[in-house]
Amino acid sequence: MSETRTFPPSFWWGVAGAAHQVEGGNVNSDSWVLEHVPDSPFAEPSGDACDHYHRYPQDIALIASLGFNAYRFSIEWARIEPEEGEFSYAALEHYRRMLAACHEHHLTPIVTYHHFTSPRWFAAKGGWEVLDNAARFARYCDRATAHLGDLIGAACTLNEPNVGLLIQRMGYMPPDDVLLNAPYRRAAARAVGSDTFAAFPNCRQAPARDTFLQAHRLAVEAIKAGPGDFPVGMTLAMVDHQAVPGGEAARDSARRAIDDIFLDVARADDFIGVQTYSRMRHGPDGPLPPEDGVELTQMGYEFWPEALEATIRYAAGYTGRPVLVTENGIGTEDDTRRIEYVRRALAGVHRCLQDGIDVRGYCYWSVFDNFEWSLGYRPKFGLIAVDRVTQTRTLKPSAEWLGSVARQNALVG
Ligand code: BGC
Repeated sequence: MSETRTFPPSFWWGVAGAAHQVEGGNVNSDSWVLEHVPDSPFAEPSGDACDHYHRYPQDIALIASLGFNAYRFSIEWARIEPEEGEFSYAALEHYRRMLAACHEHHLTPIVTYHHFTSPRWFAAKGGWEVLDNAARFARYCDRATAHLGDLIGAACTLNEPNVGLLIQRMGYMPPDDVLLNAPYRRAAARAVGSDTFAAFPNCRQAPARDTFLQAHRLAVEAIKAGPGDFPVGMTLAMVDHQAVPGGEAARDSARRAIDDIFLDVARADDFIGVQTYSRMRHGPDGPLPPEDGVELTQMGYEFWPEALEATIRYAAGYTGRPVLVTENGIGTEDDTRRIEYVRRALAGVHRCLQDGIDVRGYCYWSVFDNFEWSLGYRPKFGLIAVDRVTQTRTLKPSAEWLGSVARQNALVG
């Protein structure tokens, strides 16, 4: 017999994206510089991405037509403040039009103020490695909110300020001293006429962590002081930390260093944004590789949709705050595996709701196949495929499937 799992009436069913990964031509950003230096850590440049900067009216209409009621996207600091202290009203107006288009199509806009990219001038001033730079971010948040706040539905200050710490511990990114001396970093500094170039996440994580914590606090103050009345929080990259026998201490220390120091601050927020893709196993000597026999995604980590339930429970239990799933998804060429992954992840969300945990919504990452940072366009996270030359959008079965879950506000079967 097929079971119907219904979600709360106000549940946000969203899709997510980020400016640099979909807009195209983000030439003033730190990432654009790094994508074009010798020894670039990027497999390919972002280029036109999905040309979402120009195609957002059709894209937003498409998202709404599928059945979703929320769209999480980021506004691009590098466009809004292309030189320090010089704000672009044209860029702000662009994002105002995007917000208006969301409202027109009954999508709640969930706005991220910083999704990894910063203006190149910010990286040239030491970026997140410099504590005083937190105030520069807050000034941008203040100006952006003054222009956009009345149309925002929910705000995320920073996207995954802990992701560098996470991937460093997993061994996917080198330690801070290696990052500091990376040839591409010196080349980028030369390209912008500076003696430093600190772009996130390829920067020293120890100082960046402290700047992020400060930036988040200041950003919340700035956003709350502006127009509009909407929930504000940060989003974290969370994995389900699991210990094999003897690995409990390593697991707890990883949690403390990667998650808890941010969750401590999130206790003062309106919600905590949970972004989960997989699990991480810890042995007595630290992180373990994927377990033999477990399916891997295109990203090389384990297909583990149950991680979402575990991280929601952890974040809600630790902070006592409502949870918004701001990202969850899978990179795969096999769309049937995407549907299976999301179905199992959503069953976990539903179990959390049944246990009384206040989960406000679920945003699938990602609306489009897009620029997956250093890996370029190879990983396919999208519900919608994008032709890299013609920009034609093609719906995958998962787009229709998840759209119908959203429309019914229920997981059937
Ligand atoms: C980031 C996205 C990224 C996704 C998939 C998250 O860490 O917020 O920008 O594309 O994971 O790897």
